[in-house]
Amino acid sequence: MKIKMSLMALLGGMVFGGAALAEPTPAMLANACAGCHGTNGLSVGPTSPIISGMASEYFVAAMAAYKKGEWPSTIMGRIAKGYSDEQIKAMGDFFAKQPFVRAAQKNDAAKAKTGAKLHEEYCEKCHEKGGSAGEDAGVLAGQWMPYLEHAMEDYTSGKRPMTKKMQKQVDQLVQDHKHAGVEALVNFYGSAK
Ligand code: HEC
Ligand code: HEC
Repeated sequence: MKIKMSLMALLGGMVFGGAALAEPTPAMLANACAGCHGTNGLSVGPTSPIISGMASEYFVAAMAAYKKGEWPSTIMGRIAKGYSDEQIKAMGDFFAKQPFVRAAQKNDAAKAKTGAKLHEEYCEKCHEKGGSAGEDAGVLAGQWMPYLEHAMEDYTSGKRPMTKKMQKQVDQLVQDHKHAGVEALVNFYGSAK
């Protein structure tokens, strides 16, 4: 009887210990993303976006959109499915606290100058402060240019949905300036130091 009791206590302890182990800290969860998004979200590879400093609500919305397949992705659809809503929220809060550091990258100064004007005209209304505010969208200023190019391609080809208001501005931009307009904007965001 005594043995049985202590065995129960031991088993109880194991279950308890197991539950504690099964719930990793947000930093541990975020570590699984470091291979592509870098330490604390500061991606060093140009096709994986920097995700540090991203507003938690946008992060949660992005992961949900990947999970449901609403946003096109090469890899994130599969990755997002591996996390619960609680874990995603915890990671979102974690990355939001990490500082966004702009990527050091080459850009075309003339295109960036044109891009600055186009940004003012078509995009600043929502992507404030030259695209450096990341309230309800990712930070554009200092984001990796190849990632921005892919994102714009997904939008203009209709693969990634946009809000009606953004669609109106992007359609207008492409109608007025063709692909060169998109290229200029990407160079402008890439030129942020
Ligand atoms: C194998 C590389 C890889 C890994 C690992 C990875 N990502 Fe990504 N992530 C990408 C790529 C590439 C994109 C662009 C979308 C795509 O093609 O899947 C992206 C996009 C994102 C975005 C959208 C950013 C934006 O600006 O809209 C978020 C948020 C994100 N990843 C979060 C995570 C989290 C959280 C993890 C870890 C749990 C993670 N990623 C692991 C490669 C990766
Ligand atoms: C009416 C508001 C609005 C306007 C105008 C707007 N956007 Fe956006 N943009 C958003 C929102 C909201 C998102 C969040 C993600 C989504 O809905 O896909 C976003 C997302 C993005 C993203 C993806 C960021 C990421 O991390 O994946 C890029 C790139 C972008 N916008 C570029 C532009 C450009 C370039 C212009 C101007 C031609 C523009 N946007 C105009 C609201 C706007």
